[in-house]
Amino acid sequence: MTGEMMKALLCERHGPPEDLILTDTLRPVPGPGQLLIAIEASGLNFPDALIIQDKYQMKPALPFSPGGEAAGTVAAVGEGVERLRVGDRVATLTNWGTFADYVVAPAEHTTIVPDSMDLETAGVFTLAYGTSHHALKQRAMLKPGETLLVLGAAGGVGLAAVEIGKAMGAHVIAAASSTDKLEIARRHGADELVNYGEVDLKATVKALTGGKGVDVVFDPVGDRLADPAFRSIGWEGRYLVIGFAGGNIPTIPLNLPLVKGASIVGVFWGDFVARTPDLHRANMDELYHWHSEGKLAPLISARFPLERGGEAIRWMMERKAVGKVVVTVGGAG
Ligand SMILES: NC(=O)c1ccc[n+]([C@@H]2O[C@H](COP(=O)([O-])OP(=O)(O)OC[C@H]3O[C@@H](n4cnc5c(N)ncnc54)[C@H](OP(=O)(O)O)[C@@H]3O)[C@@H](O)[C@H]2O)c1
Repeated sequence: MTGEMMKALLCERHGPPEDLILTDTLRPVPGPGQLLIAIEASGLNFPDALIIQDKYQMKPALPFSPGGEAAGTVAAVGEGVERLRVGDRVATLTNWGTFADYVVAPAEHTTIVPDSMDLETAGVFTLAYGTSHHALKQRAMLKPGETLLVLGAAGGVGLAAVEIGKAMGAHVIAAASSTDKLEIARRHGADELVNYGEVDLKATVKALTGGKGVDVVFDPVGDRLADPAFRSIGWEGRYLVIGFAGGNIPTIPLNLPLVKGASIVGVFWGDFVARTPDLHRANMDELYHWHSEGKLAPLISARFPLERGGEAIRWMMERKAVGKVVVTVGGAG
């Protein structure tokens, strides 16, 4: 294997997505416990925009390729890997490196894609659906009949949270910045819609819940939405801190959780996968099963070939992405 080449979209210096360069580079070789995967499709996620600007918590050495998840086929296995074989259709997580023909990934973080799912869908499925499922199941302990408010509800993790919330039996209020985005959330199962570009979030959610407030808030946006969202939570509510796509990391006055008997619940899915890979794979089995039953239908709204991966990141930074965006690689081997 040593010395074989592949194409990769490389970040050679930190900066905007326009600086990414498609380059011939050495194909990596899997070490113990690792796999080499010939990539078919790679999902775009918000951290891809941060990592190339050196604004993400993980800081790979330059040069590196962005892209934190992918699906494809196993091309080689490292020492000690028994669960997976060459030729298996798989989906994996790597934090970076998947905007390339091949990536080396830990076998522990890799799942076998069932025949019921195509590899393009699998390439965008793990990170968004895995995050939202872990957040709602293990962190919020969402129960059937509870009310769930999802912010950024047409985004990657947001739309996944809408679908998973419905699959878990919740009443889902989708909140987003435009009518078009809310229409997408409605088509994916949302029961009620709130346009926070136009109406007051707290007052509208309170009215929709008869003054009671919601049981769970799923917040991937933060910034100026966090305060009104927290104020629309009800007694013993759980506020899921997912991310800060809006830009600023908000602060919440601690008297608010006190008077509501409510919890602020952090979600760090990447660490959850690393610390409890068996539980992660069990979660993915449940998600694959729900997908095969038609309960989950990931939306792929845009496709970019590998050489235009930078345009895909720009698309997301301009808030144009809905559901998932895929970087197609294909034909790698
Ligand atoms: N905690 C974890 O383990 C974990 C795991 C995965 C992702 N995340 C985080 O979750 C967040 C969302 O990720 P994603 O991949 O779902 O992103 P995404 O598809 O771009 O969705 C983000 C949503 O945030 C809203 N938004 C508000 N201001 C924005 C801005 N200035 N730029 C872009 N979007 C803005 C947009 O909805 P509206 O236009 O409707 O407001 C958009 O749909 C990110 O912060 C990411 O880092 C966290």
